[in-house]
Amino acid sequence: MRVLVTGGLGFIGSNFILHMLETYSDVSITNLDLITYAGNLENLKDTDRHGDRYQFVKGDIADRNLVDDVVSRKPDVIVNFAAESHVDRSILDASQFLRTNVIGTQALLDCCRKYKIDRYVQISTDEVYGSLGPSDAPFTETNDLKPNSPYSASKASADLLVRAYYKTYGMDAVITRCSNNYGPLQFPEKLIPLMITNAVQDIELPVYGDGMNVRDWIHVMDHCRSIDTVMRKGKTGQIYNVGGSCEHHNIDIVRLILTKLGKPDSLIKYVSDRPGHDRRYAMNAQKLSNELGWTPLISFEQGIEQTIKWYVENEPWWRRIKTGEYLTYYEKWYGSLQK
Ligand code: NAD
Ligand code: DAU
Repeated sequence: MRVLVTGGLGFIGSNFILHMLETYSDVSITNLDLITYAGNLENLKDTDRHGDRYQFVKGDIADRNLVDDVVSRKPDVIVNFAAESHVDRSILDASQFLRTNVIGTQALLDCCRKYKIDRYVQISTDEVYGSLGPSDAPFTETNDLKPNSPYSASKASADLLVRAYYKTYGMDAVITRCSNNYGPLQFPEKLIPLMITNAVQDIELPVYGDGMNVRDWIHVMDHCRSIDTVMRKGKTGQIYNVGGSCEHHNIDIVRLILTKLGKPDSLIKYVSDRPGHDRRYAMNAQKLSNELGWTPLISFEQGIEQTIKWYVENEPWWRRIKTGEYLTYYEKWYGSLQK
């Protein structure tokens, strides 16, 4: 199987590529990534050992000519991870979110249609459903789309485009909507890696508002296995929720990290709330487990332990990000990665 992955230098995309290359010997991957601030060549530096089964192309999914060229090589499937993914950045400026998340998705869909690609997989998010009250049932695939941030609005727009291409052109497309991921290789601007790395550095841990917002956590490898499952077995035109059934208040996650690292609660600093901050997300992933047989395998207790250990053992990786040094890898490695 020849898979075109977009955004494969980011957190989830790089874990997915590693999962696919290591699990299947008959899979080859082309990774199209713009290398934005969130794309890190170091995440996939070990792919050399997979030889020609991994190929990197630097470029923008909103660049139609480039996308046309890459898709004309006729992969069997396209899995679109490429996105601007950080809610806080979307609040500061939504422009790039619309370009990548909406226009970029459109370019991929058009080329997918033109070259009759067998399947298109859109990696979406629980945030498209908006926010839940404390006693609301978890989101199902039939919930209305009620995005509250520019980021989630751009992701919801992309989902609607995918639906429209399936309905109008009969394109084979599926959408996954996952809850909050955590695990190795996550950029340390997101809650869990930010809190772990700040705690290691003995700097303040900024908690938004009252810290009582709830997220439904899933280990990135469980998410990657769900994408693999949907890519192979998902029914065309369907949406699949993915989640860990693992709700936690932010403040409890932060306190847990401090305890595990032997650091004091005095490092916690309550700061102004995020504008439009969604109070609670929770996913009902029954459809995915009943129809396709997927279930998460990694408990939060195991996963958070492994994740904290990974950040402690890979301090040079995140320190290079926090200092900005990782941005120079393009020059250092691009030559050897381009085939
Ligand atoms: P990330 O920010 O870590 O990585 C995004 C990647 O996309 C980077 O490598 C970046 O260089 C690349 N990229 C950005 N703009 C691009 C463009 N125009 N063309 C090509 N490449 C571009 O994101 P992530 O956390 O790995 O999320 C991946 C996908 O999963 C996103 O679509 C996101 O919406 C979705 N998602 C994330 C989570 C989560 O908890 N992180 C949960 C559910 C869904
Ligand atoms: O739910 C899936 C989404 O999860 C993905 O679609 C997004 O791409 C991903 O970024 C993530 O969005 P969140 O906004 O939920 O994740 P973030 O790590 O930014 O924040 C998690 C919670 O922690 C949220 O309630 C805000 C809070 N927070 C976050 C940061 C960065 C803090 O309290 N302090 C912080 O410094």
